[in-house]
Amino acid sequence: MKDAQDISIGWRTEPPPTTYRVWADDPARFSMHRIATLHHNFHGHPLFQVPELLKLGKELAPLGQCRFMRPGLTVASTIAHDSRHPDGRSIDEHFERMEEPGSSVALYNIETIPRYQALLLAIVDTLRGTVECEQPDIFMVNGFVFISAPPSVTPFHIDRENNFWLQLHGRKILNVWDHQDRSIVPAEAVEDFIVTHSLRKVRFSEEFRPRSQEFHARPGDGVYFPSTSPHMTRSVPDWTGPGDRVSISIGVTFYTSVTRRTARIHQVNRVLRKWGLSPAYPGESPVADALKASVGGLVGATRSCLVDMTASGQRFKSVTTPPPGSY
Ligand SMILES: [Fe+2]
Repeated sequence: MKDAQDISIGWRTEPPPTTYRVWADDPARFSMHRIATLHHNFHGHPLFQVPELLKLGKELAPLGQCRFMRPGLTVASTIAHDSRHPDGRSIDEHFERMEEPGSSVALYNIETIPRYQALLLAIVDTLRGTVECEQPDIFMVNGFVFISAPPSVTPFHIDRENNFWLQLHGRKILNVWDHQDRSIVPAEAVEDFIVTHSLRKVRFSEEFRPRSQEFHARPGDGVYFPSTSPHMTRSVPDWTGPGDRVSISIGVTFYTSVTRRTARIHQVNRVLRKWGLSPAYPGESPVADALKASVGGLVGATRSCLVDMTASGQRFKSVTTPPPGSY
């Protein structure tokens, strides 16, 4: 990956570009089904500078969306985070001491704040044409900002969404595995995660490491990885120097018609399993997949309708978030 940009924490040292964008290193080979390297210039965007991120943190903290990782995690740990700082610090105090080794906070669902929602859509829009010619109907664009001072770790896990992962400041190592490599995460573990959100069967083993793609990311670097690609990150203290003591990255995540279809197949499989059957996993039988996707779509539509009716019956605001597993 390319050399570090001349960006120091909190201050841009170059004039802001007029156009921010994300681009695939190899557009001709880019596919939504494969891990791909990206580049971008959003690390220079005013809303991604530290003072603005502090402002964002202060808006998200009362909503419980500043998440502090439990200290002492390894890549093999279960993901565990809390809205309370492990030492009881406020978000202001946390940012004041953000350069202390091991300091770490993740800002969850930044799309809650309208100016960041617009920014996330702007990021996705730069690649919308490329995405939607393969996977139409992008929806639920969400953002997660990870701010940490080495040493830090994000344990091995999978997510439901496709991910444009962008490095904004400092350095970080990202390992990603092929989402179809069943020797890393078995199909039943993926189904469990999609249907119940449980990562219980998604476990790291050191033997997996050689099968991963490892990215040493600096500001301006990025990686695309498809839904359910196993991944983990780490940063180490030897890299740090003045103005470079903190690593900031963002996961811009989104669903499409394809992630929704696959989730529906998993849902239907789960029902069939309860009936004692052993259905094929998504991708194993195109005919069965098509049938299950139609059935799953009907069930999903009915559930959404029931949820809306319940909400209006209770005079609540209409529910816009689909139930887990329905997208
Ligand atoms: Fe993730």
